[in-house]
Amino acid sequence: MIANKPINLTYKYIMKPILFKKDAEDVHNHFTDIGKKITKNNTTKKLFKKTFRYENNKLSQSILGIDFKNPVGLSAGFDYDGHLAETMYYVGFGFNTVGTVTFQQYEGNKPPRLARLPKSKSLLVNKGFKSEGAPAVAKRLDKMNLNDKTVGVSIGSTNIPEIDSIKKAIDDYVHGFEVFKNKDYLKYFEINISCPNARLTESFADLKNYEDLLVEINHLNIKKPLFVKMANELTFNHASKLVKTGIDKGISGFIFTNLVKDRNNKYFDKDEINSVDDLKGNFSGKPTQENADRLLKQMYKDYSNHTIFIGTGGIFNAQDAYTKIKNGASLVQLITGMIFEGPQVISKINHDLVKLIEKDGYENISEAVGANFRN
Ligand SMILES: Cc1cc2nc3c(=O)[nH]c(=O)nc-3n(C[C@H](O)[C@H](O)[C@H](O)COP(=O)(O)O)c2cc1C
Repeated sequence: MIANKPINLTYKYIMKPILFKKDAEDVHNHFTDIGKKITKNNTTKKLFKKTFRYENNKLSQSILGIDFKNPVGLSAGFDYDGHLAETMYYVGFGFNTVGTVTFQQYEGNKPPRLARLPKSKSLLVNKGFKSEGAPAVAKRLDKMNLNDKTVGVSIGSTNIPEIDSIKKAIDDYVHGFEVFKNKDYLKYFEINISCPNARLTESFADLKNYEDLLVEINHLNIKKPLFVKMANELTFNHASKLVKTGIDKGISGFIFTNLVKDRNNKYFDKDEINSVDDLKGNFSGKPTQENADRLLKQMYKDYSNHTIFIGTGGIFNAQDAYTKIKNGASLVQLITGMIFEGPQVISKINHDLVKLIEKDGYENISEAVGANFRN
């Protein structure tokens, strides 16, 4: 990593004010196009790696047999069709999730489906599982150089009117997994049961539906770690039942959490949330943080001997990430922090995490996992 500060200042004072005036989805598409070009030749790869990527052995861990060079991952939803699966390594992530991918192609909800709430440090999301479909995404990933990178795929059920029952949705998940399950370059899978924008009225947060889904996925005999992505507004009791059932059904770990639905969440700026009254959608960033941390902490306390946790929601700096790690997250993921702070924030978080673990007297980040429960 070089020149973090100048990139930080350039992003904050020049690029962000320009970008934040443009339509959020257009900017995302534009950056995806640029990102795709990075891996086209070795010179740009080297340049990006040198500029953005921060390496330090104190951050590397082997978890469930997977090599994580650092604990900061890209959360599902930024790279939904896998165009950036290779690029994200050069930007500095320790791992990155493609998706959520659905088995069948779906163009997503009608735009506008992405909006920024800068005062609330949040994004409104109403994509509705836009996906090119698993076969097309797999074909794209097949051509990339992913073997030495830590890339996983998040799978959901296709959000089309024809998938109108839990039974059909489970079949659709299974078809999605069948496309990816034997891809050696994929290191893990996420089962997304918590998309708050999906059209199916029944939910996989319902214990019976969840169990039925996990039984069918079990039949696939998938050899890679499976993580379940959890909703944000769960009670402890509900989350506990989902985690316990997941462990019983062979799930390797749990990701806390997905987006916030409640527009009365206290972290919203009142005028800002009222200004998106006419838009459907759910929210990322700061409003997700408190619930995500609370659930993670409790679930770690109850289940850390049996499983692992990934903390997601409202990470903007190393302290946010470190709080999740000390509360029990072996790994963390983010999207919104990168959009608000710029791509250099990944190396900045990693760099500052090393300072934080050194201050606490740890040799490796793994020693900090769940440290709040050992004091
Ligand atoms: C634009 C956008 C799209 C998202 N799409 C998905 C998705 O497809 N699947 C999923 O599991 N989570 C999705 N999420 C949720 C994120 O993965 C993450 O759980 C949440 O945003 C909290 O992290 P953050 O505050 O760092 O953004 C999306 C989030 C954003 C901002």
